[in-house]
Amino acid sequence: MSDLASLEQRALTELQATADEAALRAWNTKYFGKQGEVTLALRKVGEVPPAERKAYGQEANRIKEALTNAYEAKLAGQKERQLKQSLAAEAIDVTLPGRPLIRGRLHPSTQTLRTIGSIFADLGFQIYRSREVEDDLTNFELLNMPPHHPARDMWDTFHTTTPGVLLRTHTSPGQIHVMREYCPRPIRVILPGMCYRYEAITVRSEIMFNQVEGLAIGTNVTMADQNGTITAFARRMFGEDRQVRIRSSYFPFTEPSIEVDMDCSNCAGKGCGLCKRSGWLEIMGAGMVHPTVLKNGGYDPYTVSGFAFGMGPERIAMRKFGIDDIRQFWANDLRFLRQF
Ligand code: DAH
Repeated sequence: MSDLASLEQRALTELQATADEAALRAWNTKYFGKQGEVTLALRKVGEVPPAERKAYGQEANRIKEALTNAYEAKLAGQKERQLKQSLAAEAIDVTLPGRPLIRGRLHPSTQTLRTIGSIFADLGFQIYRSREVEDDLTNFELLNMPPHHPARDMWDTFHTTTPGVLLRTHTSPGQIHVMREYCPRPIRVILPGMCYRYEAITVRSEIMFNQVEGLAIGTNVTMADQNGTITAFARRMFGEDRQVRIRSSYFPFTEPSIEVDMDCSNCAGKGCGLCKRSGWLEIMGAGMVHPTVLKNGGYDPYTVSGFAFGMGPERIAMRKFGIDDIRQFWANDLRFLRQF
């Protein structure tokens, strides 16, 4: 009996001294393992003289229960302390302000292309997508520029290693594709997209840029329709009081050919830095589709006519937003892009 009492005391003192879970488990093995002291003490019941056996058994069982309870309480306390520690160590401070997301936006060229597209949509024009990689035939010849025609000098380009395959210099070859697809139906489309030219990159010219081509074909389409369409576009794009003037010009694929100016939206025609003191800004080339081009598209130039135009959305955006350097468009400088 006295062995039992000292066993209980020793076990309790050691239990109090355990500092972590590993020590606790070791304690448990020491007293409750197969060869554990409590286990052995219980097993000893049979050896105790019958007179003391009952009291010994009861005391041994009480000690077993008391130690087991003490152990379990200590283990639970230990687990709780561990949980609190890891909660404190791994805590996320939800009161910290989040990192701001950088929001993207549409490139000024895309914005301008969409505005142009919606203005022409209101005028009944559909959008037709045409390829950027063209052949010499469509980019030049079918547009009334035979090989060695001097007008080709205006459109030097990048040639692929496949002879006759090149990057289009303008969106005009798209006219041929639309006509051949739609002939003999009437046409009212715009053709937006990237064009390429082999030339020096300057403040005013780039080797890649967008164009928006326009093409309207039908019976009795006249220059008056063309001028009305272009004027309506200029006013929607730049303001209802814009004035438009046309000058005669030359393009191989139109006859007659014109260039279209509008009074400077910056100074209302008085003359400023943007319009180089002239009061006018050039906005596009245009003309009545040349009979040869109509024929190449499958149409009969004696029964139908059409007008076409071509403009540079980057140039338009420069005018609209007062951008003075076309190289900004592809420089990918966020300080520039964030302004739109
Ligand atoms: N393709 C011409 C260029 O890149 C622009 C142009 C002028 C297009 C007159 C036309 C047009 O459709 O009629 O300079």
